[in-house]
Amino acid sequence: MFALRRLSQQFGAHAARSLGPMQASACASQQQMASVTSGPAGAVYNVGQATNIKFHDGMVPRDVKEEILGQKGVVLWFTGLSGSGKSTVACTLEHALAARGKMTVLLDGDNVRHGLNKNLGFSAQDREENIRRIGEVSKLFAESGVITLASFISPYRKDRENVRIRMADGDFVECYMRIPIELCEERDPKGLYKAARAGKIKGFTGIDDPYEEPLAAELVIDAKDEAGTMQSAEAMAATIMHFLEEKGYLSAPAPSASKAATA
Ligand SMILES: Nc1ncnc2c1ncn2[C@@H]1O[C@H](COP(=O)(O)OP(=O)(O)O)[C@@H](O)[C@H]1O
Ligand SMILES: [Mg+2]
Repeated sequence: MFALRRLSQQFGAHAARSLGPMQASACASQQQMASVTSGPAGAVYNVGQATNIKFHDGMVPRDVKEEILGQKGVVLWFTGLSGSGKSTVACTLEHALAARGKMTVLLDGDNVRHGLNKNLGFSAQDREENIRRIGEVSKLFAESGVITLASFISPYRKDRENVRIRMADGDFVECYMRIPIELCEERDPKGLYKAARAGKIKGFTGIDDPYEEPLAAELVIDAKDEAGTMQSAEAMAATIMHFLEEKGYLSAPAPSASKAATA
């Protein structure tokens, strides 16, 4: 495989290698957020509260990983009300992708709150930090070629946009589960709407905290299909699978002319 051969060549010539476009853009985005404190030979930055951070170059390139995996990395970001089917559809899709030999990771709201984000609550500030951390973790996976399914209510438009703008074009696919609140409340799989209506949960999305609908989601999944029939979770997952297929996420990146020449 040309990319693997290229990788060994690359390590041989590691010291002389100039930055590829992807690493260059990653470094550029780091620089936008950071202040440089030493010269270009091994530039050191201050990032937020951290000082003397050096962006390490020379890791295995993304396209090599994507070729190994036979797919392209992407973050598929499921957003919608509680009970809209984010977890159900993401899980159904993940199994369908696994059956096709695709490498995925599924990050899901409650699970992440058990670990990475267990110190966060549901205030607007904590919700923002919750989404920011998940966005960064998702980005790391996608940049390693993994199809990353992120299933979070993520009710605030600004928080979702902040995740999107940290990623390269095409790496963030917003999937809006546009299910009416009446249906979500009727399903109420965790009894949360009942508890919110009874005043036992405060700040519940859709009841006494807003859900801001996406304005330009790549995918919008409705409860009913065009013929007005209720859609199964499998049918919804199939729609998303079709999108991934059509947009080329289920194949390795095509070798560029310059890379092919070195193969
Ligand atoms: N077409 C469908 N898609 C997704 N979930 C559905 C569908 N029809 C019924 N459900 C049910 O709705 C509930 C959705 O819950 P869940 O997936 O946990 O939502 P969320 O993760 O958005 O809070 C589940 O109990 C699921 O079985
Ligand atoms: Mg869920």
